Amino acid sequence: MPLQANESLAELSADARTHLRQYYQQEPSLLAAAPGRVNLIGEHIDYCDGFVLPLAINRHIVIAAALNNSGMARVRSMGEEEAVISLEDPQAPATPPWTNYLRGVLEGFRLRGSWPVPGFDAVIVSNLPIGGGLSSSAALELAFATIVEGLVDTVLDTREKALLCQKAEHDFAGVPCGIMDQFASAFGQQDNLVLIDCQSQDPELVPFPSSDLSVLVANTMIRHKLADGEYRARREDTERALALLGKSSWREVNPADLETLRNEPDDLLFRRARHVVSEIARTRESAKELRQDNYAALGPHMAASHQSLRDDFEVSCGELDLMVRIANEIGFEGGVLGSRMTGGGFGGSTVTLCRGEQLHEIAARLSVAYEEESGHTPQLFATRPVQGARLL
Ligand code: GLA
Repeated sequence: MPLQANESLAELSADARTHLRQYYQQEPSLLAAAPGRVNLIGEHIDYCDGFVLPLAINRHIVIAAALNNSGMARVRSMGEEEAVISLEDPQAPATPPWTNYLRGVLEGFRLRGSWPVPGFDAVIVSNLPIGGGLSSSAALELAFATIVEGLVDTVLDTREKALLCQKAEHDFAGVPCGIMDQFASAFGQQDNLVLIDCQSQDPELVPFPSSDLSVLVANTMIRHKLADGEYRARREDTERALALLGKSSWREVNPADLETLRNEPDDLLFRRARHVVSEIARTRESAKELRQDNYAALGPHMAASHQSLRDDFEVSCGELDLMVRIANEIGFEGGVLGSRMTGGGFGGSTVTLCRGEQLHEIAARLSVAYEEESGHTPQLFATRPVQGARLL
């Protein structure tokens, strides 16, 4: 069975309720869910004023919470020891590391004056793989921020909430991410992709209604340790390149401008810049094609995106390349419209746009061929775009 069965949101919520009862003898007064995301196209350009085109996926983090009449948050994430967080002081990064997403979100609420947060007990459950490049950390931040909104009885503007979560990731998890993951998890809508203009920070919905299309996510089950340092390094490369180009935004850079970067001692910054400029163009073009229901046009853009990430931006890895190669071998005839790595890279997942009727066959072929060549058993699932973070 190459396609993974999915625990439904209703089942996850029931689990969260049961665990809150079991650990804290409480019925939840708040229940929140936030989805992970896959990005169809527009990779490593959300921190370059680019456009990105993700969707929120049917894999979630769910949190159940109830007040506990103390100045403390007592939180259990499944498989982890209970974490106790004092709600009286400014928050600071601490251990264990997973609690930093929560501490960062709490600090965001404190800084905006929504403080103090009353004491509460909470449990966190999830069917979103961690480390699969599917934004489990953004989903955790958004689900938790939704709970805190309920606790302080304030509903934030969705953009403010997503940015608060991004800041938590920067300041408390030490990852200098762009806005894509938090925006996708916050603004996702059923049957819509979220086209995000990362310069204006405006999300726009792009309908994805066709029931004969499927988005197939293939987790390579590889996570390279260098990921975090390399992410920061890529961000710095793009900042240096932009400074050398003498521009204040990548939106003002044309392909012809890049020639000046060829004079650098090596072609590294030229290649980084070429990725940014070409990926922005591909993403705009893809959104335009999708609006005209021209799904087949996405294939070449996704292929070019993957190549650019592999060769110019150097964030792919052998396993991602292998998964994409197998999908391309299945090809258009076999129902594959396009395939590429998705997310930060160095492992994680690929996204493959397929014709629905051939989905199971494609998944089976990917699974068998990938395992045969890499020795790793991949995890595959199909998704459609779902609604973003909300109270249940
Ligand atoms: C990670 C970051 C995002 C984005 C992607 C690459 O997921 O969190 O902000 O930069 O990598 O597109």
